[in-house]
Amino acid sequence: MQFNGSVPEYLIVPFIEGDGIGPEIMDAARRVLDAAVQKAYGGDRIIQWKEIFAGEKAKEKYGEYLPKETLEAIRQYKIALKGPLQTPVGGGIRSLNVALRRELDLFACIRPVRYFPGVVAPVRFPERLNVVIFRENTEDVYSGIEWRKDSMEAQKVIRFLNDELSCGIKDDSGIGIKTISESASKRLVSMAIEYAIAKKRKSVTLVHKGNIMKYTEGAFREWGYEVAKEKFRESVITEKELHENGGMKPSSSRLGRDTDGKNAERGMRSAEWGISKEIVINDRIADNMFQQILLHPDDYDVIATPNLNGDYLSDACAAQVGGLGIAPGANVGDNTAVFEATHGTAPDIAGQNIANPCSLILSGAMMLEHIGWNEAADLVISAVSVTLKNRQATIDLASSMEDATPLTTSDFADALIKNMKLKKQ
Ligand code: NAI
Repeated sequence: MQFNGSVPEYLIVPFIEGDGIGPEIMDAARRVLDAAVQKAYGGDRIIQWKEIFAGEKAKEKYGEYLPKETLEAIRQYKIALKGPLQTPVGGGIRSLNVALRRELDLFACIRPVRYFPGVVAPVRFPERLNVVIFRENTEDVYSGIEWRKDSMEAQKVIRFLNDELSCGIKDDSGIGIKTISESASKRLVSMAIEYAIAKKRKSVTLVHKGNIMKYTEGAFREWGYEVAKEKFRESVITEKELHENGGMKPSSSRLGRDTDGKNAERGMRSAEWGISKEIVINDRIADNMFQQILLHPDDYDVIATPNLNGDYLSDACAAQVGGLGIAPGANVGDNTAVFEATHGTAPDIAGQNIANPCSLILSGAMMLEHIGWNEAADLVISAVSVTLKNRQATIDLASSMEDATPLTTSDFADALIKNMKLKKQ
C-alpha cells in the first residue's frame, strides 16, 4: 500500500494515547518522532498531531469505548499511532483492538523482528534474525465463530455434521470454525510480495500447516503461489523453478525442504544463480518453520502466514531476539494503517514513568517509513540501536544488561533524541 500515492510534506497524524502506560509512552514516542523529523528535514516536513479517543478516555468523554469520530478520523487521515488499550471488563465489546481491525478492514498484521545489540537474547546469534512477518488478521480460527459445549448451536452443528457428512464428532464437543478464503489469502500474500519488492528483500516464505489442513492452510499455500505468478511474474521465481533451472546449490545438512519434498537452498537471492528475478517464493510447514527460524534464521526474510501461525511465530521471533517488549507492529488494510505498541497496558507499572516506550517508538518509525519519510525512520531506528548498545535502557531491559543505567521513560526518550545522528554523506 502506498500512502496517498505520493510522499507528503506535511502530515496530520491522529493518535490514541491508550490506557495504563499509554500516556507515558505516547508522550515519549511523539517527542522522539518529532525530533527525528526535525533532524532529517530541518523544518521542511512536519507532523501535526491530532488526539483521537478510544478506551477509558473515550468512555469518559463520549460514553463509549470506540466512538465513530475516532474511526472517521483514521479513515480520513489514513493512518494513526495507537497506544495499548485495556480490554473492557464485563461484556459489551469483546476487544477494542479486534473491533478497530474489523471496522477499518486492517487485514494484515505486520511485525518486523530484528535484534538490537545490547539487548540480552536467549540465543547465541540473535543478530542473524531479521524478518518481517505478514499475518492475516481477519480469518482462520480467530474469526470468533465458535459455540460452547452443549449449546443449542453446537448441538445443531454436530448433528448436521454427523448425520449429513458422517463426521463422527463427540456429542460433548465445543465447536470452532476455521475459514480461510482465496480472496483474503491472496491480498495478504500480495501485500507481502509488494513489500519485499519495494524493500529489496530476498524472499517471501509462505508458512502453513497444509499437510494436515489441506483445504484451508494447504489452499493458502496454493493461492499464495498463484497470486505470486499471476501478479508478480516479472519479479518472482519459486524455489521449485530455481531447482528446475538447475540453479540449486549442492545439497548439505542445512537444506530445508519445501513441501514438494525437494531440497532447495532457502532464501537465497535468485541473482546468485544468474537469474534476474528479484524475489524467491518458497513455503514451509509451520512446525518445520519454528525449527528453521532458530537453526537458520538468516535464510528467512519476509514471511506471509495465516492468523494462528502468525500469532505464534511473531511472538516466538520477537522472544528469540530478546525483544518481546520492544517489537513494533502495524495493522494495515488497502486504505488505512494503524501503527501500535504490541504489548498491553501494563497496569502494574502505569503512572510510574518507568515503562519502555520502544515498541511504540519503533511502530512510529514504521509509520514514517510507510509514508515515505525514510530518512526520519532510519534516524529513529539507529537512535534506538545506539542507545541500547550504550546500555541505556528502561528498567525492564536494563535489569538484565551488564553495567546498564536504568532510565525513566522520559529520560530514555531524551537519550534517544541526544543519540540521534544524521549519517555522514
Ligand atoms: P501487558 O503486556 O500489559 O503486561 C504484561 C507484563 O509486561 C507486565 O508485567 C507489564 O508490566 C510488562 N510490560 C508490558 N509492556 C511494558 C512496557 N512497555 N515496559 C515495561 N514493561 C512492560 O499484558 P497484560 O497484563 O496481559 O494485559 C493488560 C491489559 O492490556 C489487558 O486489558 C489486555 O487486554 C490489554 N492488552 C492490550 C493490547 C493492545 O492494545 N494491543 C495487547 C495486549 C494486552
